[in-house]
Amino acid sequence: MVEPAWLSELRPLIAGPTGNFAQLATVDTDGHPRCRTVVVREIDPDGRLRFTADVSSAKVAQIAAEPRAELCWYLIGAWRQFRLSGRLAVEAGEVQARLWDEMSDATRSQFASRADFIVYGLDVAQVETLDITVRPFARALHEREGLSWTRRAI
Ligand SMILES: Cc1cc2nc3c(=O)[nH]c(=O)nc-3n(C[C@H](O)[C@H](O)[C@H](O)COP(=O)(O)O)c2cc1C
Repeated sequence: MVEPAWLSELRPLIAGPTGNFAQLATVDTDGHPRCRTVVVREIDPDGRLRFTADVSSAKVAQIAAEPRAELCWYLIGAWRQFRLSGRLAVEAGEVQARLWDEMSDATRSQFASRADFIVYGLDVAQVETLDITVRPFARALHEREGLSWTRRAI
């Protein structure tokens, strides 16, 4: 699979120390929006990305009830915003074991046990990009169709 164009734009921008902090929006069981910062741990070449959470956090029940979510990623310094929307799913097995092993002891110690450590994968279906370094601002909508992506200016 060819790497999606939005991912080729995003990758070089997230290399810095705070480049992997993004805001995850979900809804609670009343339909009220909830938004919080997460660390994006990795992104697959096809655009699927992963973050981790503690089983006791409120988002776990929210995501179980409504897996649709949006991740808003602002790259300070680059003046670029990426809004990635799709569905969340818990990832177990090899992925969960690998990310657990890759974490520092300090990060791991925040979890009562490995059983409390949840990995979420975001299956990205649509990405809106915004570049505010140019005038007029440049916005584009990337949409996945099967295994390929389309891109159009908006
Ligand atoms: C810089 C930063 C990084 C964070 N990374 C994560 C993370 O990767 N996963 C996570 O569950 N919470 C992370 N948090 C905490 C969340 O923002 C949030 O406060 C917590 O998960 C509870 O959210 P909830 O009640 O919606 O579940 C981070 C907070 C900050 C400030």
